[in-house]
Amino acid sequence: MRIFSGIQPTGSKHLGNYIGAIRQYVEGQDRGEALYCIVDLHAITVSYDPHELRSSLYDLCALLLAAGLDAQRCILFRQSDVLEHAELTWLLASVTAFGDLQRMHQFKDKSASQRELVSGGLFFYPVLMAADVLAYRATDVPVGDDQRQHVELMRDIAIRFNARFGGGEEVLLVPEHRIPSVGARIMDLQDPARKMSTTGGSEQGTIYVLDEPATIVKKIASAVTDSGREIVRSPEKAGVSNLIEILAVASGRTPQQVEADMADARGYGDLKKAVAEAVVAMLAPVRERYVRLRADEGALEQILADGAARASEIASHTLADVRERMGVGAPRQTRTLR
Ligand code: TYM
Repeated sequence: MRIFSGIQPTGSKHLGNYIGAIRQYVEGQDRGEALYCIVDLHAITVSYDPHELRSSLYDLCALLLAAGLDAQRCILFRQSDVLEHAELTWLLASVTAFGDLQRMHQFKDKSASQRELVSGGLFFYPVLMAADVLAYRATDVPVGDDQRQHVELMRDIAIRFNARFGGGEEVLLVPEHRIPSVGARIMDLQDPARKMSTTGGSEQGTIYVLDEPATIVKKIASAVTDSGREIVRSPEKAGVSNLIEILAVASGRTPQQVEADMADARGYGDLKKAVAEAVVAMLAPVRERYVRLRADEGALEQILADGAARASEIASHTLADVRERMGVGAPRQTRTLR
C-alpha cells in the first residue's frame, strides 16, 4: 500500500486539519509506504506573501513532525522541490474535462471569496492535486470530507488517461480516498453549520493546534450548543454533535461510547469541560515538541531535501512512463537521463 496526502502551508493549522488529516498521516506510517507533501504550489493560487510562505512552510513542517511524522518512516517533502508535479499537471490537463473543473465546489467557494484576482491557478488546483497523487501511483489518500470531490476527480483523470493512453494497462493507478468515519468534518465552534477553516471561519470558533491550553479551554467553553441538555448526536444538535465527535477522537473512544459515558452528566457544561480536557491533553505535547523543532530551520530543510530526493526517485519513473505513452519528448531509449 502506498499512501499519499498533501497539506497547504497556509495559515495556522486547526483542529479540523489535525483530526481529519494529520492524525491519519501519523497512523499511515504504520500501515504502508507513506508520502506527505507540503503543497507550496497550491498555496500560490490565492493572494499570498512570498516571505510568509517560506516561513509558514517551516511552521508546518515542524508541526507535522511534532504531531508524530517521522522522517525515517515516511517521506516528508516540499511539492515545489519535485519538478515532476508541475510537469505532470500539464500533461494531465489534456485528459481533464473543463466542465469537471467548473463543477469543483472549492473553486466556486474560493473564487467567490477572492477580492482581487481569481487566478487560473485556482481553477487548475485540482489538476495539480491529481498530479501529486498519480505521480506516485498511490493507493490511499487520507483526507477530510471537504476533499472528497477532488479525489473523485483524480480518479476520473487516471481512468481517462489509462483509457486514452494505457493500451489496456493501468499506467496510472486509480487511488481511493481514506476519509475517517469520525471527525472528517469538524465544525466551527461558533457556527456549527460551517466547517472549521482558516479562511472564512470565526477566530473564536477555530481551535489552532498551537493555541495555548487556556485559549483552548476558553474557546470550547463558549462553543454554541442549543437549549436542551441531552448529550446525543442528532441533525438538530449540530454544535453538540460536533463536540461529541471531537471528544471521541481526542479521548480514543467511539461517539457511542462518549454518549453512554456522558449519560449522567449534568448538562453541556460537563460535556464542554470533558472536551476541553481531552483536546488540551491531545494538543499540549504537540505544541511543546513544535517549539523545539521549529527553532532549527537547517534541520527542517535537511529533512525536506532528503524527502524530495526520495520522492523524485519514485515520481521520475511514472513521468517517464507517462511521457512515453503520450508520445511527448524523445523516445525512451535515446533520451538522455537527467
Ligand atoms: P488543506 O491544507 O486545506 O487541509 C489539509 C487537510 O485537512 C482536512 N480538513 C479538515 N478535516 C476535518 N474537518 C475540517 N474542518 C477540515 N478542514 C480541513 C482537509 O480535508 C485536508 O485533508 N487540497 C488539499 C491539499 C492537497 C492534497 C493533495 C490532499 C494538495 N494535494 C493531494 C490530498 C492529496 C488541501 O487544501 O488541504
